Amino acid sequence: MIRLAVATTGGDAPGMNPCLRALVKGAPTDVEVFGIRYGGLGLLRNRSEADASASGLESDYFHIGAPAVSNILHIGSTVLKTSRMEGIRRFIAEQQFESLDDAIASLAPDALSRHSIAGMVLIGGDTSSSAAYAIARATNHEVPILVIPASIDNDIWGTQQTLGFDSALQVAIQSVDYIRTTAASLDRIFVIEVMGKAHGQIALDTAFASGAEEVLIPEVDYTLDALDEICRRLIRNAGSAIAIVAEGARLPGTPQQDAGPAASFVSYLRPIAEEAGREVRLVQLGHVLRGAPPTATTRLLALHCGMKAVDEIVRRVRQKKATEPHLISIKNGGDLSLVRIQEDMRRRDTRATQAAYEQFRRLAY
Ligand code: F6P
Repeated sequence: MIRLAVATTGGDAPGMNPCLRALVKGAPTDVEVFGIRYGGLGLLRNRSEADASASGLESDYFHIGAPAVSNILHIGSTVLKTSRMEGIRRFIAEQQFESLDDAIASLAPDALSRHSIAGMVLIGGDTSSSAAYAIARATNHEVPILVIPASIDNDIWGTQQTLGFDSALQVAIQSVDYIRTTAASLDRIFVIEVMGKAHGQIALDTAFASGAEEVLIPEVDYTLDALDEICRRLIRNAGSAIAIVAEGARLPGTPQQDAGPAASFVSYLRPIAEEAGREVRLVQLGHVLRGAPPTATTRLLALHCGMKAVDEIVRRVRQKKATEPHLISIKNGGDLSLVRIQEDMRRRDTRATQAAYEQFRRLAY
C-alpha cells in the first residue's frame, strides 16, 4: 500500500475542501491518504494519537477515508485546519530551533518516515512552495512533493490562478452590491476594504465588477494631490459613491491607523466630505472572503487539480526516483501543468496591470 499525506497550509481558502475530496476519492485502490491537521504546524509537531487522546485533542496525522471527504465539497475554508506563521514560529521557539529551515530539516524527515509517507501534497499559499522546497531538501528528494496553489489573494509565483480567488471575488462583489443598495438610499459614500495582502487584484476586480467609483491598490503610488482628487471626485458624485481599498494600499499623509488603509483613508476623507454635507461609512470585509463557499469555477479547478496531483504523485512514487518538488500551475482558466519549485523563487509579478486599472477608470463614474 502506498501512503500519501496531504495538508492545507497557510491562509485557508475556498476550494481546499473540494481539492481534498478529489485527492482522496481519486486515489487508486492501492493508495491510502493521510491528512495532516493544522498545516505546517501539524506537519512538524506530529502529535501522536496517544498524546492527543491524553489531552482530549486530535492527532496531527490521521487516515482519511472516502467517508471523511463526503459533504465537504461545498464548504469554504478547510476541514483539515491550517496554521499561520505566528503559530509555527511559537512552536519553533518552544522547541528551540534557530529557524524554520532548521526545524524542517530536523523534524520533517522523521515525521514523514514515522508515518511511512511516500509522497506529499500541500494545498496552500505562497509559503507552501518554500516549505515544499525545504522539506524536499531535508528528505534528499526521496519523498515527491506537489503544491496546489490555493489563496484568495491570487499572488502565487508560477500560476496565473489560485484556488479560492474567484470565490473570494464573488463574495466581495455581492457584498458591495448589498452595500450599494443602502448607500443609494441615503446618498452616502462608502469606503470598503478588501483583503489581498500586497496584491490589489481582489480590490481592482471587485471595483470593476461592482461599478465602484474609486479603487486604491498597492500597485499604484498615490501622492497627496491624487488622494485629494479622489476625495473630491467621490464627494462631487451625485448620489452614493463607493471606494474600494485594498488592505495593502499605501497612502501618503493620511493618519496611519492600525485598523488599516481604509480607516486611514476615511479619516482623511471624512472632514472634507462633512464640510460638503456628505456622510461617510467604513466597511471592512475581512475574513468573510476566506470562509465563502467555493464557486463553480473554484470547485471545478479544485477537483481537476486534486485529481492531477494524485495521479502525478502516485506516478512519481512508483518510479522510485528522487524528484524535485513541483507546483501545479493553472493557466487560461484551467490548463494544468507542472512547474519546478526553485529555491530563489521570486514572488510572481503580482502587480495589477496599468491596463486593468485604466479599464476600471474608463467606466468609473
Ligand atoms: O493570504 C490570505 C489572507 O487572507 C490575506 O488576504 C490577508 O492579508 C491575510 O491572509 C490575513 O491573515 P490572517 O488574518 O489569517 O493572519
